[in-house]
Amino acid sequence: MNAQVLSTDFLIIGAGVAGLRSALELCRHGHVTIVAKGGPQDNNSFYAQGGVAVALSEEDDVDLHFTDTIKAGHRLCSRPATKVLVEEGPSRIHELIEWGAKFDTVDGQLAFTKEGAHSRHRVLRAGGDATGSEMVRALGAKAQVLKNLQWLGNHFGIELLIQDGQCCGAIVLDEMTGTYKTILASAVLLVTGGAGQIYARTTNPSNATGDGIAMAFRAGAILEDMEFVQFHPTSLYLPSSPPFLLSEALRGEGGILRNNRCERFMKRYDRNQELAPRDIVSRAIWAEMQKTKARHVYLDVTHLSTTFLKKRFPTIYSTCLRYDIDISEEWIPVSPSAHYFMGGVKTDLHGASNLPGLFVAGEAACSGVHGANRLGSNSLLEGLVFGLRAAEAAARHAHTYSPPTSIPNSVRRKSSARKMSEQDIEKLRNSLRRLMWTKVGLIRTSDSLQKALEQLQQWSRKLQIPPFNRTGLETQNMVQVGLCVTEAALWRTNSVGAHYREDIPFSKGLKWKIHSQCKKTSFPSPVSSHQKKQKKKGNT
Ligand code: SIN
Repeated sequence: MNAQVLSTDFLIIGAGVAGLRSALELCRHGHVTIVAKGGPQDNNSFYAQGGVAVALSEEDDVDLHFTDTIKAGHRLCSRPATKVLVEEGPSRIHELIEWGAKFDTVDGQLAFTKEGAHSRHRVLRAGGDATGSEMVRALGAKAQVLKNLQWLGNHFGIELLIQDGQCCGAIVLDEMTGTYKTILASAVLLVTGGAGQIYARTTNPSNATGDGIAMAFRAGAILEDMEFVQFHPTSLYLPSSPPFLLSEALRGEGGILRNNRCERFMKRYDRNQELAPRDIVSRAIWAEMQKTKARHVYLDVTHLSTTFLKKRFPTIYSTCLRYDIDISEEWIPVSPSAHYFMGGVKTDLHGASNLPGLFVAGEAACSGVHGANRLGSNSLLEGLVFGLRAAEAAARHAHTYSPPTSIPNSVRRKSSARKMSEQDIEKLRNSLRRLMWTKVGLIRTSDSLQKALEQLQQWSRKLQIPPFNRTGLETQNMVQVGLCVTEAALWRTNSVGAHYREDIPFSKGLKWKIHSQCKKTSFPSPVSSHQKKQKKKGNT
């Protein structure tokens, strides 16, 4: 394969909040190349509605934010990482405001909302329900004027380059021309987001296919806590529409959940009712759906005024109206959907993975701040805080390392005659999404996981040499991530946070305060191995 060879100081793969924040820092240290699938809006951050949690209101402080995060995460969060998140968060938000981000205000003061499992009003928003896009806009506007930043949009990261154990760049596919580029760098930042698309129902955009997580795994990075996938309780349920996210802020503002017998049911599950942690609300909805033999429950906001709803939730109001639902007059059909990966590439407090030269931040990373269940609205803050920290660490690394001047031999890919057809790939991808939803979803059993594992292993073998186009490569990544989630879910023989095993519905009596780890055993086998690791206090 002949590939164009480019050199840069820092290669960033992904362009959400974590990627942009790291780019702003790295441009102070050298030349930066950003590689991103699609355009500037094609990332999870852009679609984040509800907001960004930060201890800045009068009634709040960082200790309370810390405690709420640890509690929601079922005490599986890393305490040092959580401390970093809540303590550095306020400075990152102030900085963003200075750079032009417009968060909503009331009487000239920042407006804070309360969301599930938050003990205080703590969640900032922008444009009512368009917080992520405003943060991406503000960061992007600042990045746009930087001279030493090269933006390669519509470029897809295929494989990380490893030489002498060091990560020194990546091979990317130029989606427009179908050609390959090899990019050599002193350090690589992986900020590719999550993998919600491995599930049939997800709030994530179509490009959330776990590419970074799979690429890092193939290169030898350790993945942690992959069994913890957060299912958002409320996404629009209409047979003919994608599961559009209905922000937790709707419940924060008084939205009520009702089953199809019109009963307000959450009081049977948690004293905080609609504002219980997400894992509890999602499973409660699931249980009500089973009990009433319905495919959804309802979210009722009809008691809130039309003027308020239009102003506070403009995107949600207008999107639902497009589907012929006036949320001020009708209950909204909702059901849970895959939303966020708490697990990912294991990193330390500075975004460093176990592979020297590879730094990871945002949803692709497992920094430890989310534990078994992410506290809502903590992820945009994580992107800012750990995006900067990873960039600082990458800059320090670059002082001690020079990338190779030619491509490491071992990573040159050959095209193969044994390609699957586009149609077969599409079919496999849809089957994978259904399999993960039914067997490795909100409710799991040993039997369902075992069946899923066997099927995934079969697909993985079939896909070892995928078609070298975006769909083929993404599907290979989705199968790889699906395998890691399934293996981790089988390994965790108890129920904690977002991981619920119907056959073992409790965590007590087991050593549940441990983290799953997943590492490739030998190249190019897709099989991962799990190592039990006793969680040490203070360990990241
Ligand atoms: C929401 O608005 O409910 C989603 C925000 C988040 O997941 O943090």
